[in-house]
This record gives sequence, C-alpha cells and structure tokens, in this order.
Amino acid sequence: MNVTRLLTRISGTRLWQSIFRHGWPDNALDRSLAMTSNVFFHLHPVKVSRKSLKWTYSFGLGIISTILFGVLIWTGLLLMFYYVPSVERAYDTMKDIQLSVPLGQFTRNMHRWSAHGMVLVVILHMIRVFYTGAYKPPREFNWVIGVFLLVLTLGSSFTGYLLPWDQLSYWAITVGTNIAGYAPVAGDITRELLLGGPEVSQNTLIRFYTLHVALLPTLMVLLVTVHFWRVRKDGGFATTDANSPPTQQD
Ligand code: HEM
Repeated sequence: MNVTRLLTRISGTRLWQSIFRHGWPDNALDRSLAMTSNVFFHLHPVKVSRKSLKWTYSFGLGIISTILFGVLIWTGLLLMFYYVPSVERAYDTMKDIQLSVPLGQFTRNMHRWSAHGMVLVVILHMIRVFYTGAYKPPREFNWVIGVFLLVLTLGSSFTGYLLPWDQLSYWAITVGTNIAGYAPVAGDITRELLLGGPEVSQNTLIRFYTLHVALLPTLMVLLVTVHFWRVRKDGGFATTDANSPPTQQD
C-alpha cells in the first residue's frame, strides 16, 4: 500500500474525522476550516500577510510579555503560600521564603526579574506597535486597550514594591505616593486613597497587597483576552506592504 493510499484510509476513519473536521488543506475552504476548527490556530486570522510572519516584524514582544505575565502569576501564587501582608510579619516571611523555603530564593528572584522584564518588554512592544503604524484604524481600539495594559503593568510593579516591607520599599512608596499627592485637583484624595491614611502603614500594605494579588491581575487577564481577540478580529498584524501576498490563495 503506498503512502497516499494509507493516508487517505487513515483520514477516512471516524476517529480521524471526529478530531480533524476538514479535508486535506489543499484548497481555500479546507485551509480556512483547518484554521477555524483548531483551538490553537483559531487565535490567528484565517489569512495573514507573508511579511508579518517574519519574526523580525514583531520580535515576538507581545508573546514574550504574555509569557512573562504567566511566569509572574505562577511564581506569585507560590509566594502567596508563605507571604503574610502584615507589618509585623511581612519582612520576616520574605526572609523565610529566601532562607528556609525550598526553592524560595529562586521563586522570589523569578518573580522580581520577570516583573522588571515585563515592564521593559511591554514598553518595547508599544514602541514596535508605534513604529509599524499598528495603532492606526482599525487597530486604534486595541492601542487603547494596550495603554490600559501598560498602566496596569506599571501599577502591578508599584504595588508589588511595597510588599517586602523593607526600608527601600517603605521609602519608595512614601516618595511615590507623595508625588501622586502633587497632582492637580485629585492629588490629595488619590494619595489618601492609596495610603488608607496620612502615611504608609498597615492600611497601605493591605491595600497594595489586595491590588497586587487580586484586582490588577484580574483586570489584566480580562484585558489581555480582549487584546488577543482584537488582534485576531483586526486581521492579524498590520502591514503596509502592498506587494506582500497573503499566505493563502483565494
Ligand atoms: C500586558 C501587556 C501586553 C501584552 C501581554 C500584549 C500582547 C500582545 C500580543 C501577543 C500581540 C500580538 C503579537 C505581537 O505583537 O507580538 C499584541 C499586539 C498588539 N498590541 Fe499588545 N500587549 C500588551 C501591551 C500593549 C501596549 C502597552 C500597547 C500599546 C499601547 C499594545 C498594543 C498592541 C497593538 C495595537 C497590537 C496589534 C499589532 C499589529 O496589528 O501589528 N499592546 N499584543
């Protein structure tokens, strides 16, 4: 039995057809079905331009941001098993994580470096999007979602900074919230809301902890989902190259 006949027989079985709900992707219809009926492929548009497939087009910066976000969620969950957000215990629990918990130092470093890396990579991703003109219609809504994601990324970084409750974090948040206090009109109320009082205290720690582990990550997961959905709906990456033929023929 030659290979073609063998493949035809396999693809004719019920098992195969229950998983792959399309014929060989050698025509436009089956190629479209191959994309839309696969859980991973369906995140991409059915047609993309050849130019946008070059990795140097986006440098994978959006994907790298997503991976770093995943690492942060995972290592953050592990740290939550030990960390206690109280002014009496926060610093000691951080020391325990570093000195007594198996792989604690590694987990903490992964969390910290991924956080620094994410801020950098998200900014580079934004620059790439701007440089390739991908903020223009129809992608302007996704650009706005991106701006919110940048603010949330910076917010997560800021709120996480207080949690070790050491001198560096205490004074960094004192200075940071003082700067917020100088904002016109809403400065004082913003500072008061962030601190939960006139100065950095237990109220501040619990507020920053709640923002850092619950509110901000939940909002980010929601917005990243909308962001991906928009990339797909807007037809994949923006390209200006009129000579770049689509990878699939009509
Ligand atoms: C948590 C932060 C972010 C994540 C996880 C993220 C993720 C992604 C991914 C995976 C893509 C598609 C692939 C790629 O470009 O590498 C993308 C595209 C895009 N992102 Fe982001 N992004 C984030 C922040 C931002 C920011 C800060 C902006 C701009 C203000 C932005 C604007 C856009 C736009 C307009 C596209 C479409 C690009 C195109 O069509 O060429 N994103 N994003």
